[in-house]
Formats: sequence, structure tokens, C-alpha cells
Amino acid sequence: MSFSKEWLSLRRDFDNRARNKCIEKCVAQYFTHPIHIMDIGTGTGNNVVYYQEKFEDSSWTLVDSDADLLDVCRKNLRQNIREMQHGSILDLDNFQGVDLITANAIFDLFSPEQFVSFAQKIHAYGVSLLATLNYKSMYFTPQAPQDKVYIEMYNQHMTRKQNFGCAMGERCTQKITDVLLDKLCYNVHMGKSDWIIDSSSPKMVKHILQFMFNALSEMTSDTTTLQNWVEDKQKMFQQKSVQLCISHSDIFAHP
Ligand SMILES: C[S@@+](CC[C@H](N)C(=O)[O-])C[C@H]1O[C@@H](n2cnc3c(N)ncnc32)[C@H](O)[C@@H]1O
Repeated sequence: MSFSKEWLSLRRDFDNRARNKCIEKCVAQYFTHPIHIMDIGTGTGNNVVYYQEKFEDSSWTLVDSDADLLDVCRKNLRQNIREMQHGSILDLDNFQGVDLITANAIFDLFSPEQFVSFAQKIHAYGVSLLATLNYKSMYFTPQAPQDKVYIEMYNQHMTRKQNFGCAMGERCTQKITDVLLDKLCYNVHMGKSDWIIDSSSPKMVKHILQFMFNALSEMTSDTTTLQNWVEDKQKMFQQKSVQLCISHSDIFAHP
């Protein structure tokens, strides 16, 4: 799956508003001096830009499988970047010298098996993990009768069988905490980082509804009813009579 730089730019402010302040405090209390951080699934560098201010004088290694996004990132970031690696996170196996891994909005894309293997590798090096904006689910307020069906279908689409297996999707928070806490005995802190989307963000509304329509079209043959549902939602957003919460978690885990 590839991600456009326009989408990453659109989501940046939503992510930054949603980030959990208690989790950030835990991280700041745990690391009180400059460290070396590896950001995985860096994209255009939104997560790094956000945390560079908070981890002053720390150095960074950035990893992403999309060379075009890393090129944009190169232009956005200059200071304290030790290395940019073009490649898959799943091929990483040397975490020598890394204190913390940051990962924003990526683990829902991974299968449980991929996450377990990754977690075991970082655990062997005693590396901490700050995994933010892990997708959980969504709900509209007020709720219409068909919302539940379509949201469940959307979540099923995220976890459909793909060439690498089934992505964790909405189950990623549970899986991440199970693996880190129960299997690897990390100390785990978790808090919510929800997006609230309303009529004040028409670009985001349009993008999310289109994204949902595309995914749901692959799940149902009744595209007329689906189209009507999307159009109803568009109207309600224009009339300021609905809002959407996309719920996420932020997780900080340390040995
Ligand atoms: C939703 S985007 C998040 C980007 C960035 N973390 C942010 O907060 O803006 C997911 C990112 O993970 C990258 N990605 C997905 N699977 C990957 C893999 N196996 N190895 C490396 N990068 C991967 C994508 O190229 C994309 O940049």
C-alpha cells in the first residue's frame, strides 16, 4: 500500500492535536538526556518533526520503504539526522545503539506475526517503543442505523487477507500490548489519541468518505445503498449535524 504526500500532510495536524500528553510525559520522564531514536515508517517526516522539539539534541535514523516519501522528508528535515534508510522495517535486525523506536500510524498495517517478529528483535537489544496513532475504530455522532454495518465492514477490509497475511487493523492496540506486556515483559503505558472530524475540516471529511467508499466498494455489491449512505453523510457534515471520531491509541513501552 502506498501513501500520498498530500494525505500525510492532511493528517499531520490531526495527529499532532490527538497525541496523548500523558504518554508524552512518561517518555520525557524516562529519557532525560539526548538519545538515539529510530523512526520507522517515516513517510515525509511528520513524526520526526513533531518529536525533534521534544527530544532536543537527540540523533535520528529514519526508515521507510517508499523512496519518494523519503525524498520529501529529506527536504523537510536536516538537523540531527544520522541516517536515512530506504527499505522494509521487517528486514531490520540490528538495533545496536538505538534507545527508542518511534512509529506513527504504521502498526495497523502489519500482520500479528510481523509485529511479533519485530518486537522480539527490538526486545533483544533492550530498545523502547513509542507507537502512536494506532487505529482502533470509528463512530459517527449521531449514529445512523447503517453506520455500524459499514464501519464493521471497513474494519474487515483493513484485516482482509493480503499477500503478507492479514493486517492487525483495529486489533493492533490489543496485540501490541499483549506481545509487549505479556510475552516480552515490557512496562507498557497506553492512552487514547482520537481524531475528531467535523464540518470545520471539509478536506478531511471528503478524503475519509472517499477512502471509506473505495474500501467498502470492494466489500459489498450493493454500491447504490453505499453511495446513498456516503451522500447522506456528506450532507450532514455540510449541515454541521454530524461528527466523526476515529479512535486511536498511543503506546509507550520500555524494558
Ligand atoms: C500511514 S503512513 C505514516 C507515515 C508517518 N509515520 C507519519 O506519521 O506521517 C505509513 C508509512 O509506513 C511506511 N511503510 C509501510 N510498510 C512499511 C514497511 N514494511 N517498511 C518500511 N516502511 C513501511 C509507508 O511507506 C508510509 O510512509
